[in-house]
Amino acid sequence: MPTRILIVGAGAIGAFYGSRLSLATNTLVSALCRSNFRAVQANGFKVTSPTYGEQVFKPEYVFSSPDDARKAGIKWDYLLVATKALPDVSDDSALLEGLVSEGTSIVLVQNGLGVEEPYAKRFPHAAVLSAVTIASAAQPSHGVITHNRWTRISIGPYLPHLDRGGEGAKAGDRGVVERNEKLVGLLREVGIKDAETYDHAGLQFVRWHKIAINAAMNPSSVLSGGSGNQEMSLDAELSRHLAGVMKEVLETAPRVLGKPLPPKLATAEQILNSTRRNSSGSKPSMWLDWEKGARMELEVILGNPIRIAREKGLEMPRLQTMYALLKAAQENREKNVKGSRL
Ligand SMILES: NC(=O)c1ccc[n+]([C@@H]2O[C@H](COP(=O)([O-])OP(=O)(O)OC[C@H]3O[C@@H](n4cnc5c(N)ncnc54)[C@H](OP(=O)(O)O)[C@@H]3O)[C@@H](O)[C@H]2O)c1
Repeated sequence: MPTRILIVGAGAIGAFYGSRLSLATNTLVSALCRSNFRAVQANGFKVTSPTYGEQVFKPEYVFSSPDDARKAGIKWDYLLVATKALPDVSDDSALLEGLVSEGTSIVLVQNGLGVEEPYAKRFPHAAVLSAVTIASAAQPSHGVITHNRWTRISIGPYLPHLDRGGEGAKAGDRGVVERNEKLVGLLREVGIKDAETYDHAGLQFVRWHKIAINAAMNPSSVLSGGSGNQEMSLDAELSRHLAGVMKEVLETAPRVLGKPLPPKLATAEQILNSTRRNSSGSKPSMWLDWEKGARMELEVILGNPIRIAREKGLEMPRLQTMYALLKAAQENREKNVKGSRL
């Protein structure tokens, strides 16, 4: 039997990893699309990458809606979710209703903290795999995917009962770990050399570490009126601010997770130095969303870390300031747009 994978949210990141996975042995990849449905149904995805060259990725099935996917009645091995994580807009775990059967793993390839919870709650018996990627990709037009640079994807089983104070290991844990290893094996087979497996606790550290970068760069770009990453890292005051945000996150993570930060993760200074050298001119996704008038991933990048830390009696004042200001700016902008339509 082939391994069947459905990409839920086939945008930049979903279609990039989907296109690679479609090349794995005995693996069939389908896509659940939205606004790009017609283009993808007609021509598939055209993916360009400095690492892998050009590829036309024609999914086995292209679905226009979750209902369309449900009607196909397929038993999915992996549902790879790569929508933007916007819990203040929609609970995307609902998209998977009727698609999860025995043996299905839900893989969340999304930025932010706490993204797993709605899926684990809705599907308590499903395997949930948590993935963090540092790849940079975009969809400049429907069905056209530009992979810019980097490929690393870190994946770990989501087993919160193993956290301190949890109930301890459960009988099904080994199976979840095996599915995690199988997926990482498929990614490595198709040339994603830095696809890595982590255990539950290790992956949560990777999430916090990525938050250090995202919570520093993304909101600061919006609040500074669209500065790029390199520009901010070279500016005297902004780079102090970025270092302060990253340190706040990297100092809070071990206190929340109850273990020291793994030494192999880059420090704030190392991240800043590599940003100073990156002359690609890239701008954080939050700025691109703000510019488009779209909702930003504020809740999972700022709100959830603040709330998770608060549950442990810890405050994150730098994150909290940016969160309060940007949330209000977003609300005011939406009120103004509504008002101008009346
Ligand atoms: N892009 C990057 O370089 C990058 C790097 C690292 C991490 N990430 C993270 O990866 C995640 C995905 O980001 P992305 O840049 O790939 O976003 P994206 O290009 O906007 O892709 C998200 C896709 O999900 C689709 N979608 C949303 N809701 C849907 C629904 N209800 N039904 C079907 N499709 C739906 C969107 O369709 P519409 O176009 O119709 O909205 C879009 O095609 C985010 O958490 C992001 O922070 C991105």
